[in-house]
Amino acid sequence: MSYAIAIDGPSGAGKSTIAKRVAKELSFIYVDTGAMYRAMALYVLEQNIDPQDQAKVAAACPDIDVTILYEDGVQQVLLNGKNVSAEIRQEIVGNTASKISVIKEVREKLVALQRQLAAKENVVMDGRDIGTQVLPDATVKIYLTASAKERAKRRYLELQEKGMPGELDQIEADIIERDNRDMNREISPLRQAEDAVLVDTSFMGIEEVTAAVIAEFEKKKQA
Ligand code: DC
Repeated sequence: MSYAIAIDGPSGAGKSTIAKRVAKELSFIYVDTGAMYRAMALYVLEQNIDPQDQAKVAAACPDIDVTILYEDGVQQVLLNGKNVSAEIRQEIVGNTASKISVIKEVREKLVALQRQLAAKENVVMDGRDIGTQVLPDATVKIYLTASAKERAKRRYLELQEKGMPGELDQIEADIIERDNRDMNREISPLRQAEDAVLVDTSFMGIEEVTAAVIAEFEKKKQA
């Protein structure tokens, strides 16, 4: 039997940072499901398909191949054979991913891929619907969140570090808009699973959150 740690929560709550750390400490693989939605979004952008045109995006789904590979333990995302791991980190790709993630055909395709990965390995998987839809029997479910202000501040500093300055107010407005869309869509909206442990990271450091997640996993594993 393999173990699964499901980490869900809104954009910028620190899911990927924490999930990566936890995966490293436990020697599990880290599955970043947002990267899969981003890869599909990149295709939509490259083909000049309107992300709001759900019929067009759904019709394009069979032409999109998303493959996940691991190089030295680091997830790589291939879009139709091309490694797009760096390109998909752009803000526009994230916002487009949020738009196309409301589409049933997009979700069905990616959920199948996510379940395949979890069936083979011990995983730490992060996203929006992992505990509620993708892996309802996960060993432990964590709902990681932080205030929109705090998430915007972290994103602002991260962009600055990358030499890509942004405007704090605009970043916060984008975060709130993305939260609304992710939480209010019809299919698999972002919400805390009933059996998920809520971790608010607004006033917690990375080490502290990592330790809390591992402690919850150990507790559930022994139960
Ligand atoms: O976590 P992220 O910012 O890379 O995700 C980009 C978008 O993809 C996010 O706004 C909503 C969507 N997404 C989703 O609907 N379900 C997931 N499991 C992961 C991401």
